Amino acid sequence: MRLPSLVAVSSCVLLQYSSVAYGQSNASDTRPYPGTPANFSSFALAPFWPYQTFVTEPDFHPPVLEITKQPGASDGLFIFAPLPFLPVYPDRPPVGLIMDQLGNPIWHSANGYLGQLEVQQLDGKNVLTYWTGGIGGGFVDAHGMGTITILDSTYKLIQNVTLNDGTFKAGDSMQNKPYPSYIDIHESHITPKGSLIVTAYNSTPYNLSAVGGPEDGWLLDSLIYEIDLRTNETLFRWSSVEHIDELPLNGSHQLHPNGSIIDGNNATHPWDYFLTNSVFPLDDGYILSSRHYWSAIALDSNGNVTWNLNGEDGGDFDLVNQTGKSSTFSWQHYVRPLDSTPNRSVTIDMFNNHNNGFDNGTNPSTGLTLYLDLQNRTVETVSALQDPKKVVYVDSQGTFQRLPGDHKLLANGQIPTLTEFDDNDRVVMKARFGQDNQVSSYRSYLVSNWSATPYWAPKIATTQEASGNVTLSMSWNGATPDVYDGWMIYESADVNGPLTEISQRVPRTGFETNATLSAGTRLVMAAAGKGNQATRRSESIRVELPSV
Ligand SMILES: *[C@@H]1O[C@H](CO)[C@@H](O)[C@H](O)[C@H]1NC(C)=O
Ligand SMILES: *[C@@H]1O[C@H](CO)[C@@H](O)[C@H](O)[C@H]1NC(C)=O
Ligand SMILES: *[C@@H]1O[C@H](CO)[C@@H](O)[C@H](O)[C@H]1NC(C)=O
Ligand SMILES: *[C@@H]1O[C@H](CO)[C@@H](O)[C@H](O)[C@H]1NC(C)=O
Ligand SMILES: *[C@@H]1O[C@H](CO)[C@@H](O)[C@H](O)[C@H]1NC(C)=O
Ligand SMILES: *[C@@H]1O[C@H](CO)[C@@H](O)[C@H](O)[C@H]1NC(C)=O
Ligand SMILES: *[C@@H]1O[C@H](CO)[C@@H](O)[C@H](O)[C@H]1NC(C)=O
Ligand SMILES: *[C@@H]1O[C@H](CO)[C@@H](O)[C@H](O)[C@H]1NC(C)=O
Ligand SMILES: *[C@@H]1O[C@H](CO)[C@@H](O)[C@H](O)[C@H]1NC(C)=O
Ligand SMILES: *[C@@H]1O[C@H](CO)[C@@H](O)[C@H](O)[C@H]1NC(C)=O
Ligand SMILES: *[C@@H]1O[C@H](CO)[C@@H](O)[C@H](O)[C@H]1NC(C)=O
Ligand SMILES: *[C@@H]1O[C@H](CO)[C@@H](O)[C@H](O)[C@H]1NC(C)=O
Repeated sequence: MRLPSLVAVSSCVLLQYSSVAYGQSNASDTRPYPGTPANFSSFALAPFWPYQTFVTEPDFHPPVLEITKQPGASDGLFIFAPLPFLPVYPDRPPVGLIMDQLGNPIWHSANGYLGQLEVQQLDGKNVLTYWTGGIGGGFVDAHGMGTITILDSTYKLIQNVTLNDGTFKAGDSMQNKPYPSYIDIHESHITPKGSLIVTAYNSTPYNLSAVGGPEDGWLLDSLIYEIDLRTNETLFRWSSVEHIDELPLNGSHQLHPNGSIIDGNNATHPWDYFLTNSVFPLDDGYILSSRHYWSAIALDSNGNVTWNLNGEDGGDFDLVNQTGKSSTFSWQHYVRPLDSTPNRSVTIDMFNNHNNGFDNGTNPSTGLTLYLDLQNRTVETVSALQDPKKVVYVDSQGTFQRLPGDHKLLANGQIPTLTEFDDNDRVVMKARFGQDNQVSSYRSYLVSNWSATPYWAPKIATTQEASGNVTLSMSWNGATPDVYDGWMIYESADVNGPLTEISQRVPRTGFETNATLSAGTRLVMAAAGKGNQATRRSESIRVELPSV
């Protein structure tokens, strides 16, 4: 992932403008995407996008999520973490979100950046996982020094996974300080055996003269850890620097030390030559994506390189081109194996950015699927998904998710759009949560398996309308659509109650549901539920008399 110059100071994320060209959409295509209100695109000069507000949760300002669907589009909940570009306006903070098909929030995290928000399985149960912590790396490539939070389906903490063996140096050009935990921002994958695969960075002294850098230089070692979630034991550790004989420095496409803003001169300006941005299990080893190597690399269970598929020259493979479709890729994200027959073949998906700031939007980004013949060491392009009506050039970030029924979801990372393709690779859904280059989401998913009953109670609040009526607003952050479909309201004309009878029933109308209180109501309470069954009650609150 490359983020706009971004530095976390305490809990507040500061961002700075830079002259680096960010991702771009096809500039000559001025059509709104999709159904964007005219006002939406006229704010290109200032970081701005429409957001929603709620009476019951005044701190929540989730973006308007615009969704255009064709028949056959998948159902489910969108899960993503909008990160505004620079500067961050206080009313549009970074956040983690689950939203429904109408763009209503289902769950809104506390404000602040959550990386890699995802629904995963742990011990046979669905859990919500995300990264939080400090972000460093300054101008060129962001990396994190943080922890992975694992929540159960009531949003209670199961585990706060940390990594700190005392050897880490942040290599953070903005803050050279120790962090409590050094899990990086790019990966947090729970395996079927109950372990967590994460990435980490360590600023490491290295002789960079072979690539034109200083003899007493520094680089960012790109590390992979697999942590047993029951014991915290490290099951696997891999260091790119310990494999420089297999993956030499001159394979890096990252700006070389002498041409880079982060130039390898010292511990706080290390050269980020490798950058692992995804790791998944493959057979009894792993497959990683190195953004700066333009490579998908298979490791065996000892961490030895089994093969290196390079997006420029093939590496250990020939990029055959029988289908006439290019197999080249670069700056890619989310390299994920599909079918694998060990030692014979593997099919992989990736989000092929094919761009970095200095590529000036040369190659469109695609969802690339490659068939790797491991015996003959050849590669064939199975498909290269792109929306023909909205070509994107995505410098950083992105996800390629497989959905049921051979549907595919491309989350365009730095371009705040999601595109769903059906089994014939036709576009059946487009969604947008902001203006290009003003907000991004590193990874985004559409999930059908998140059912959650929050451990906290619903919230209610009243508003005195000018008409004299009192509006009751009700919400239950985090409760999924299967958990409640309506509200039961209990009113009393006596501030001391009792609240025993249901006075009104109203159906759920999104994140926040409104009702008009009966005249004279002085005490009110509401319960979220299904049918006649109350699932959870709010506190009871007093209704202020209108000031006359
Ligand atoms: C950009 O969009 C225009 C208008 O839709 C289209 O004619 C053109 O082919 C597109 N260019 C690319 C590179 O996709
Ligand atoms: C668009 O902007 C105009 C002028 O600022 C405003 O009156 C109008 O309500 C806006 N429309 C929408 C849909 O936000
Ligand atoms: C998780 O651990 C980090 C590092 O020790 C700490 O800063 C953070 O407060 C912890 N979070 C929770 C929810 O316990
Ligand atoms: C650094 O590496 C270069 C070759 O790239 C070598 O000539 C030089 O001796 C090395 N310096 C040190 C201090 O090892
Ligand atoms: C694992 O580490 C966490 C902190 O990250 C700690 O709270 C927990 O007790 C540890 N578990 C074991 C089994 O040591
Ligand atoms: C580290 O290197 C950078 C870039 O060359 C330089 O600006 C900075 O002053 C150096 N820091 C120290 C402590 O030498
Ligand atoms: C593979 O890794 C093991 C353990 O680190 C090492 O002993 C062995 O030499 C490696 N094999 C190759 C071919 O590099
Ligand atoms: C594959 O074929 C296409 C169309 O002929 C060509 O544009 C592309 O460069 C080729 N890719 C490779 C890797 O040879
Ligand atoms: C490798 O090539 C041979 C000869 O063309 C073919 O029979 C074999 O199926 C290929 N291997 C794979 C894994 O496709
Ligand atoms: C992008 O534009 C810059 C400035 O014009 C130029 O130096 C650079 O070579 C271009 N990059 C590519 C890949 O065309
Ligand atoms: C007050 O609310 C009631 C019930 O929703 C509605 O019928 C009535 O028109 C409202 N009164 C005013 C003045 O808006
Ligand atoms: C609910 O009522 C509040 C207070 O009047 C208002 O601000 C809000 O827009 C209403 N929400 C909906 C969905 O109508």
